[in-house]
Amino acid sequence: MRVRNDHERYGLISILLHWTMAALVVGLFFLGRYMVDLDYYHPWYHRAPDIHRGLGVLSAILLVVRLAWRLGNPRPGLLGSPWEQRAALWVHRLFYLLMAATVVAGYLLTTADGRGVDVFGWFEVPATLHGVNRQEDLAGDVHKWLANGLMGLAVLHTLAALKHHFVDRDATLRRMLWPGRT
Ligand code: HEM
Ligand code: HEM
Repeated sequence: MRVRNDHERYGLISILLHWTMAALVVGLFFLGRYMVDLDYYHPWYHRAPDIHRGLGVLSAILLVVRLAWRLGNPRPGLLGSPWEQRAALWVHRLFYLLMAATVVAGYLLTTADGRGVDVFGWFEVPATLHGVNRQEDLAGDVHKWLANGLMGLAVLHTLAALKHHFVDRDATLRRMLWPGRT
């Protein structure tokens, strides 16, 4: 089985990283939306944010691994017309940027009071920048809008992938589903 990418195909590691991160980002989005509306006496009032923050930090670690893997591997050439290829390239770059920014805003929001982020009791990420005037409110607003932007982009990206598959009938989606497909 192909593990690394080449200039035409995605390998196993890129595919696993793509789908794990996609599931994490979508899961974190809906968990985030769900937890901010919970009543104080709801059994998930504390548990849901704990899970959200823990998974958020794990997604940050995966993002670093993914960027390193991406930079150390060839990128399969994009398919479609020249404008589609340019658009896809910028959407992918924007994804990396938005994922990083959302995680940083979530971290600054959580650590605004100087306490670190506990990750499932396994380890703690210490606070760094804290005590800034209205840090929690500002970082909270930014976090929310970045997460909305990330989901908007994910919808666009999914529609584009489906268009490649069902309209253009090219290998774009197939090669992201199974290693070594062209
Ligand atoms: C890609 C990763 C992430 C996504 C997509 C995401 C998404 C969201 C969403 C949609 C909300 C609800 C916002 C609202 O409607 O007010 C939220 C809230 C929150 N997120 Fe995240 N999040 C991510 C990562 C993180 C990380 C890494 C942390 C902390 C280390 C974090 C901490 C929080 C906290 C504390 C809230 C509650 C904010 C409040 O009480 O108003 N998030 N997140
Ligand atoms: C929040 C969810 C998602 C995120 C953050 C995301 C992110 C990305 C990123 C950053 C790339 C570029 C990979 C590279 O660096 O080469 C990519 C490629 C791709 N994604 Fe997603 N993705 C998500 C969901 C989806 C979904 C739901 C589908 C399919 C229905 C999909 C299909 C694809 C395909 C087919 C490619 C390969 C594009 C090509 O080779 O031209 N993605 N995705």
